[in-house]
Parts: sequence; structure tokens; C-alpha cells
Amino acid sequence: MIASGGAGPDLQGRAHVLKKHHIISCIDNIPQNNSFYNDFKLWYKMIMHKNPPPNSRTLGKIDITQGGGAEDRRTLWISENGRKEIGTMHFSNHMDEIQLSKIRQIGELAGKMAKEGRSVIKLQVGEPDFDTPQHIIDAAIASLNKKETHYAPNRGTLACRQAIAAKLRRDNGIQADPEKNILVLNGCAEALMCSTLGILDQGEEMIVIEPCFINYVQLAKLSGCTPVVVRAREEDGWLPDIEDIRRAVTSRTKILLLCTPTNPTGAVYPRALLEDIAKLAMEHGFIVVSDEVYEKLIYGQAEHVSIASIPGMEERTVTINGLSKAYAMTGWRLGYVAADEALILPMLKVHQYAATCLPVFIQAGAVEALDNSEADVAAMRQEYQKRRDMLAELLGQCEDLSLTVPEGTFYMYPNISKLGIDSYDFVFKLLEETGVATVYGTAFDQKGQGNIRISFANSEENLREGARRILQFIAKMR
Ligand SMILES: Cc1ncc(COP(=O)(O)O)c(C=O)c1O
Repeated sequence: MIASGGAGPDLQGRAHVLKKHHIISCIDNIPQNNSFYNDFKLWYKMIMHKNPPPNSRTLGKIDITQGGGAEDRRTLWISENGRKEIGTMHFSNHMDEIQLSKIRQIGELAGKMAKEGRSVIKLQVGEPDFDTPQHIIDAAIASLNKKETHYAPNRGTLACRQAIAAKLRRDNGIQADPEKNILVLNGCAEALMCSTLGILDQGEEMIVIEPCFINYVQLAKLSGCTPVVVRAREEDGWLPDIEDIRRAVTSRTKILLLCTPTNPTGAVYPRALLEDIAKLAMEHGFIVVSDEVYEKLIYGQAEHVSIASIPGMEERTVTINGLSKAYAMTGWRLGYVAADEALILPMLKVHQYAATCLPVFIQAGAVEALDNSEADVAAMRQEYQKRRDMLAELLGQCEDLSLTVPEGTFYMYPNISKLGIDSYDFVFKLLEETGVATVYGTAFDQKGQGNIRISFANSEENLREGARRILQFIAKMR
């Protein structure tokens, strides 16, 4: 066993829990003059069956047993003076399976380039470029000035739940009792987490429709359940085929997680498809978690339908929505769920232990947003529509791109497969060579090698310049 200040790992005892990639990822961090180096060499040899390559002298931290049983998880720190210190930091094996968001990785690189003085256009972010309307900010300030700075009820303030209930009745045809059916949560992100952790049991299955928001598959894994992927196809306007969903349903299916309008494709589910999904849910007894955060960002003839409004679905749907996108309030972190009381209770437990409650002044701002912002939302939507049309026209000139014009959201998901380059390579090359940041399709879909996501939540000027650079980059590839 490793003991603090002890002689080194019991190599025989723990070799089976080491993973090759952990060793490879830490090899550069072993100072060669460190007394631990000999242990490491032996340890490396046992796993890799060869000597380790020459090492750098950088200070490092080694996860020596990540992936093992609980008692084996330790971290070994190599300190600058070469002393080895064995900590007792424990890692969850479970977290090994969870990926960090790939969008942040692109954002960080774009940010670094901008700091270095490069001209960077950030078309990777799913965030409105508009500021939160002033009257919403004023409502939050008024709340603060009233010293509303104490804990709120776990479920959210009654005023906020009432405003949400009124909105659901008005916009979505959903009858939710503010006392029983609504939780105010930390963004749709927490709403998704509460829905999955609160409803899923280990060994059960959750159907996700890819391409989809990065969180979905990770949340299924976090809940210890199996994500079952149904793929929406480009030739079907990025809508899933009901027969594919039917084939994915098993006796273990607990949740079908859908998103309309959809990130990253901009597809809006028509009523008929939602009715088919509803029929399937009622037939097989699974729950639909419906992420509707882009509800208000729809264009042209598209109509947003909440699946909970379909007869028979209210008690088996968790409706998720929030203020981030339509109200330009990403940083306020306000989302919510509406669901049957029986489903609300387990979600409340997750929320209580994860976040306790949302600040009262944030909820005061939310009430103002929900009650009095239709004109602001309409103005922003109109602007997004103009940008969508402009970007579609500019990118549409390129024969090497194919494009389904999105009916909703502020994303475009063009197909680049004619260029014969993987979307991951395309995105990083594009960023490095032109300073335009986008997201590769494999962040949203295991089979997304042929698509990239472009956000048009950016100024007309930036979008025009971004499109010019993209087209020039593609022209150079020919
Ligand atoms: C489909 C979808 N759901 C949920 C979220 C999270 O939104 P929030 O900011 O409310 O946590 C996002 C954010 O990009 C999203 O695209």
C-alpha cells in the first residue's frame, strides 16, 4: 500500500488498476532526479512492457490509480524539490467516463488567440450577444435594494413560480400548479441534471436524439444509466424517424430526452411527430423530458409545440425551459422544470443538495422577464432571423457546403463532407488559419464528422466577416 511518506507503491498489488492512458499522460511530468522515478520506471515497465522514454523535469501530479477501486484511488504529487508526497485525494471512477464540454475547449483556444492579438470571431458560443433588457436588470436591483438577499424557498419564490405557471398556460397550454408542479433551478443545465438524476435508476436507458446538446449523453452516464442514441438525419431535415425511436425503445427505457427547437441543427419538431412520440410514450410507459430553451427563437412558419400539451402527456412529461437564450440572460442562471408532483419530489432532492435555491433578486428579475418582455424577445428574434437569412445566403454561395436552413435556435449546422476533411480537423484548422471559431459536429453526434456548428448570435458585421473567412478558407482547400 502507499503510505504517506512511505516507500512507494505496492506494484504487484495495484498494477491491474492502472490504465495506459494515465501513464502516458503523466510520463512527461516525472523529474528524472526524483527518488520516485525508479518506482515509476518499474511501474511503467509492468504496464507498458518497455522502459519509459526520457522525461522532462517539470513539476507534476500523477493519478496513479485512477480507475481502480475506492481504496486504491490516490494521487501522487511530485514537488519541486524532488520530494515525493503521497496525497489521499480520491477520484470517482464514475467521473472517468464523463467528458468535459468540448465547446469550452474551442472557446479557450479562441480566447488565447485573441489575447495574443489575433483577430478572432467567436461563432462557437451559444450565447446571445444582446444585453439583458434594462427593465429586467432594474427589477433585480430593486429587489436587492429591498435587501432581498436571504435564502429563497428551495422550489423558488412563489412569485417566480406563479409567473412561470402563467407563462406555461399562456404560451404552452400547460396547466402547472405553482405550489406543486414547478421548480426554479440554476439554468436549464440544472433542470436537465435534476430530471436525469431524479428519475433514472442504474441500468435503465435514456433515449437521446443525436445530434444533440453536449450535456445529454453525459447526464445519462452520470445517472449510471445507458444512453441509447437515435440519429436524426440531415435528409429528413434533422428530425428523427419515429420508427427509429420505436426500435430504440426497450423494457428498460425510462426517459426519452428531446429538444425542440434543436441545438445544434435548428430543427423544430412538428406537431405530428410529437403526437407520434407521445403515443409511443403512453404505449410503453416512459417519460419525456422536453428541453424547450429555444422555444421563442423560431422563424417563418415554424410553430413551437410543447409535448406536455398533448392530451395524456402532462403527467409523463418534464418540461424544461429557462431565460438564457430568448431573454439574453445566460449569466442569470435561471431555468425551471414543470412536471407532475410525483416527479418534482425527487428532482427537488437533487436541487436541495446541489444548489439549495436561486437568489431572490434573480427570481425578481425573472418575474419581470416573464411578465413584461414579449416586445424585447420579439425584437431579438427578428434580428436573429435577419442574421440567419444573411448567413444562409452567404454560405449558400459555396458549392462545397450544404445547408439546411434552421427553423429555430441561433445555430446553423452546415455539411462540410464534400471537402473530405473531418469536422474536428476543419474546425481547428479554420480557427488557427482564419481566427473563426466554430464547433465540430462530433461534439454533438458521434457521427458528426461531416458537420460544423456556426452560431449566428453575433453581430451582422462579425457574421459577414466570419462567412468571408470561412469561404476563403474553403476556396484555398480546393
Ligand atoms: C439545448 C440546450 N439545453 C440547455 C442549455 C443550457 O441552458 P442554461 O443556460 O439555461 O443552463 C443549452 C445551452 O446551450 C442548450 O443548448
